[in-house]
Amino acid sequence: MSGFDFSKRDSFGSRLGVVAAAAGSAVGLGNIWRFPYVLGENGGGAFLIIYLVIMFAIGIPVMMSELVIGRRSQRNPVGAFRVLAPGKPWYLVGMMGIISAFMILAFYTAVAGWTLEYIYQTLTGGFSGKSSVELTAMFDSFRSESLRPALWFSVFMIATSAIVLGGVRKGIEKSTKIMMPLLFILLLVMCIKSLTLPGAGKGMEFLFKPDFSKITGTTVLMALGQVFFSLSIGMGTIITYGSYIQKDNNLAGTSVQVSLIDTAVAVLAGIAIFPAVFAFGISPSSGEALTFIVLPGIFQQMPGGMIFAFMFFLLLALAALTSTISVLEVIVAYFSEQLRLTRRKAIILATLSMFVLGITASLSLGLTSRIKLFGLNTFDLFNTTTANILLPLGGLLIVIFLGWFFPGRDVKDELSNGGSLKARYYSLYRFIIRFVAPIAITIVFLNGIGLLKI
Ligand code: TRP
Repeated sequence: MSGFDFSKRDSFGSRLGVVAAAAGSAVGLGNIWRFPYVLGENGGGAFLIIYLVIMFAIGIPVMMSELVIGRRSQRNPVGAFRVLAPGKPWYLVGMMGIISAFMILAFYTAVAGWTLEYIYQTLTGGFSGKSSVELTAMFDSFRSESLRPALWFSVFMIATSAIVLGGVRKGIEKSTKIMMPLLFILLLVMCIKSLTLPGAGKGMEFLFKPDFSKITGTTVLMALGQVFFSLSIGMGTIITYGSYIQKDNNLAGTSVQVSLIDTAVAVLAGIAIFPAVFAFGISPSSGEALTFIVLPGIFQQMPGGMIFAFMFFLLLALAALTSTISVLEVIVAYFSEQLRLTRRKAIILATLSMFVLGITASLSLGLTSRIKLFGLNTFDLFNTTTANILLPLGGLLIVIFLGWFFPGRDVKDELSNGGSLKARYYSLYRFIIRFVAPIAITIVFLNGIGLLKI
């Protein structure tokens, strides 16, 4: 066998398919599980405002930049820099992305596995009638005392690999076009239910009323990390998807649409969760357990709650699936194109290596809890280092590359589809990627880790 054949590179079939796949990558556990708990730990409403500002000022331009790099080069993140900057060390940015992909997939698929446990629990009546204290205990013992997290991780990993094996158009595009709208509708139902709970107003106040005295350097860095994580930017997922996008697609339009969908889902998740958090007297800063304790609590209060619980965790699993496939695709594209493996071999290799990392992360409160680096267990290490360090650093290097080391003419050519679109935003975009984004990311980063005090 001759390995990967570049002339048979797959692509997305339609504009809707592109948005579904990219939004599928962006929308996931990051919106429904991570966003509410990070917001809850970092001051509520004021965090939301900072998050939105960073989303529009930095997130969207970085996403456009990744799409430009991907579509221009028609390659995976490492190959992309090799094509666009031959003989230069920029491909290391792509390598960093591949490393991030492994780390993200490990802890993210572990969380996705938790959703499977909760689907199982709804079916077997495991949490009916439980108080929030009991739900908390149940969640903790599941993660620390059993091997089930590793089992569910494995099931989820295999499902991810199966879809990626189906290919870009028949696997990724087709599945995301069905799963995304379903998720949106269900989330709306959850919001309505949560808003009608007694005491819901307090939660809305927490989410929407800013108290800037709660903002510190760390909070801003958390917001930056969350924007990058939520949009799937900074590690090459969007470069990879960009490489499958056809030449007539308006990349700026796609970036704005995907970011708006992603933000809407995060805010809706906040509306579904915070009123219930306050109604049930749970602390908004309960960390990564938040979704898995609050939502089962809401479902108990609803007539037919277990049906909703089943649907919700199923859709959360599906939303996670449209994201895990996008991360696995990065690794697979890299293995197949750079190491010249067939896609099938690349998938097998990637999946097997993921088992080692993912099982370690999924048991990080149990069997593998003694493995620690910088005082963090593997789960926390992967979660925090990727979002707060590797993704912002990747994003920084991506905009510096396009803004300073790649011909502006070619960037404009790609954004305007060879001149057929006006791309009036171009000078603003260029100003952002040359100055605003690099300076802002650097300051937020140094300030967040305490090296700079403002
Ligand atoms: N954005 C996804 C979410 O919010 C997760 C994700 C998919 C991701 N691909 C990524 C995060 C690439 C960072 C980088 O659930």
